[in-house]
Formats: sequence, structure tokens, C-alpha cells
Amino acid sequence: MKVLLWAVWMVPWSYALLPPTNLTVKSQNFNHTLHWVPADGTPPGTEYHIYLQKHSKTPLSVTTATSLPVSAIMRKDIHTTYVLSVEARQRHVTSRRANTSFEPFSMTVLGPPVVRVEGCGDCLLVNSSLPRGDGISPDDFRTFCRSVEHTLHWRRPGGETVITPIFDPSKPKRITHLLPGELYCLRVNLSHSSAPTLASDWQCARTSPALPPGGQYVRSLVGWSMGTVCVGVLVMVWFAALCYTGAICRRKPQLPQSLCWVLYWVVLG
Ligand SMILES: *[C@@H]1O[C@H](CO)[C@@H](O)[C@H](O)[C@H]1NC(C)=O
Ligand SMILES: *[C@@H]1O[C@H](CO)[C@@H](O)[C@H](O)[C@H]1NC(C)=O
Ligand SMILES: *[C@@H]1O[C@H](CO)[C@@H](O)[C@H](O)[C@H]1NC(C)=O
Ligand SMILES: *[C@@H]1O[C@H](CO)[C@@H](O)[C@H](O)[C@H]1NC(C)=O
Ligand SMILES: *[C@@H]1O[C@H](CO)[C@@H](O)[C@H](O)[C@H]1NC(C)=O
Repeated sequence: MKVLLWAVWMVPWSYALLPPTNLTVKSQNFNHTLHWVPADGTPPGTEYHIYLQKHSKTPLSVTTATSLPVSAIMRKDIHTTYVLSVEARQRHVTSRRANTSFEPFSMTVLGPPVVRVEGCGDCLLVNSSLPRGDGISPDDFRTFCRSVEHTLHWRRPGGETVITPIFDPSKPKRITHLLPGELYCLRVNLSHSSAPTLASDWQCARTSPALPPGGQYVRSLVGWSMGTVCVGVLVMVWFAALCYTGAICRRKPQLPQSLCWVLYWVVLG
């Protein structure tokens, strides 16, 4: 009787280890982590064995945590669909396996892009790039990035939003003919044929301040004066040279000798 009671009590207990639930790969910019939630009634200290289905016999990893970075195992081929399984183990009791599948190419979330902006006079320079996680090699990432479109949305406070594509995100994008001393805000959103995307947050940068009122006029006046002075000096040099060689002063007595000497003194003295 005692044995029977023990068996009745023990059997459901032994087989009550349920597979983990909500098995899913969370992934951003090819940085992949497998997550799961212990089933109700899972005792603390339960171990999880994680398998890649192809090599189902030996676990990839054994852990008591409820997540596992899986970037490294998916790095070789981003176009493959990987099937991952997790089973719970408590002493000699093993749960069924929970499974999930994941294709990096189409399921990783792209973005938000890293956007840098700086003023360049009456223009702005914008760089937009995608961070690279460990689940893709630098070479594959460069190729992949060509399939991601970056679109720039920018506006002056209170102005209309202008949408312009960034054709080559590897080069800074220049927005020109902007108003001076104004705050412009911009964000970059992404699109890809299959992967979901996240846009950047709005960020703002100011164009260079305008010249002070009348600045343009003062500048041209200064330029004009400098030019006049230069021409004047040249004329005087030429005139003095003529005096020196006696080309004018001696043969043209109507020009006062003293003027010649003054010029000569001013320029050469
Ligand atoms: C697990 O998934 C279910 C349905 O998919 C959801 O309702 C629940 O909130 C999830 N639990 C956790 C802890 O994420
Ligand atoms: C997970 O996959 C294995 C092998 O394909 C299968 O035997 C098992 O029933 C699956 N588990 C669930 C919960 O679907
Ligand atoms: C944008 O990138 C270029 C090189 O590609 C760099 O020279 C420049 O400083 C960057 N600009 C900003 C605002 O980060
Ligand atoms: C990848 O994920 C790890 C862990 O969540 C994080 O520390 C790291 O910054 C991530 N890298 C990128 C490029 O997102
Ligand atoms: C990006 O911007 C375009 C143009 O406004 C819009 O049609 C598209 O839905 C946006 N995409 C995302 C992912 O926000």
C-alpha cells in the first residue's frame, strides 16, 4: 500500500517537467539571443539543454539561465533557417523539447541606424550607418548593407518634412541651401525587402549663423577700398620710376619738379 501511494505521488511529479515556453530568438542587427520562459511549476535550479537540430545529440550549451547568445553559431550562413530546441532537466527527468526556427537574413531587426550630423555653413552633413552584431562577418555585412535603403526625413522647426533617399550611406549625405542659424531636425528610417526595421530618433543640428546685418556690404566695401589702395600704390610706383629715369620730369617741365620728388620720396624713401 505504502509503495503504491509512493508511486501515485511520485509518477506525476517525475513527469511534470514541462518544456520551456515562449522559445524565441530576439535579434537586432545580427546580434542573436535565444530566450525562453520556464513552464509553470518548473523547480528552481532546473538545467536547460540547448540543441541545434542538425546536431541534436550533443547540446550546444547547458545552462540554468533562461537565455543564450547564439550569434556565433549562425554567423556562417545568414540565409539558413536554424532550428533550436531547449529541454528542461531536473535530476534524471527530462522534458520534451521546445523548438523554434530562425532565419537571420529575414528575421533580425535592422536599426535604429547610428546617425551623426554636423553643420557645414548653410548645409548639413549626415552620416547614417547600421551597427554590426556578431552574427555576421564583416564581408557579409558589407554586402548585406547594400540591400538596406536609408531614407532621410528632415525639417526646420515648424517647416514641412522633406524626405530624401540616401543613395550611398557609406558617404556623408549633404543637405544644401539651408537657412543660416536655424535648427534643423532629422531622422533616418530604413527599409529592407524582408527584415523588419527601426528608424532613428529625431536629432537636431544648427546651421552656421548669418553674417551681421549689412555684413555683406561692409565686406565688399573693404574689398573695394583695398583694391583701390593697391592700384594707387602701383600707379605711384610707376610714376616714381618714370621720375627716377627722368622720363617725365625733365622733358615735361609743366609737371612740377617737386611733385616728382614727393612721389619719389613716398615710394622709394
Ligand atoms: C508567452 O507567450 C504568450 C503567448 O504567446 C504571452 O501571452 C505571454 O505573455 C508570454 N510570456 C512571457 C513571460 O513572455
Ligand atoms: C521539437 O522538435 C522535435 C524534433 O523535430 C520533435 O520531436 C518535438 O516534438 C518538437 N517539440 C515540440 C514542442 O513541438
Ligand atoms: C561622416 O563620415 C566621414 C567619413 O565617412 C567622416 O569624415 C565625417 O567626419 C563623418 N561626419 C560626422 C558628422 O560624423
Ligand atoms: C549585442 O548584444 C550584446 C548583449 O545583449 C550587447 O552587449 C552588444 O552591445 C550588442 N552588440 C550590438 C552591435 O548590437
Ligand atoms: C520610412 O519613410 C517612408 C517615407 O515617409 C515611409 O513610407 C515608410 O513607411 C517609413 N518606413 C518605416 C519603417 O518607418
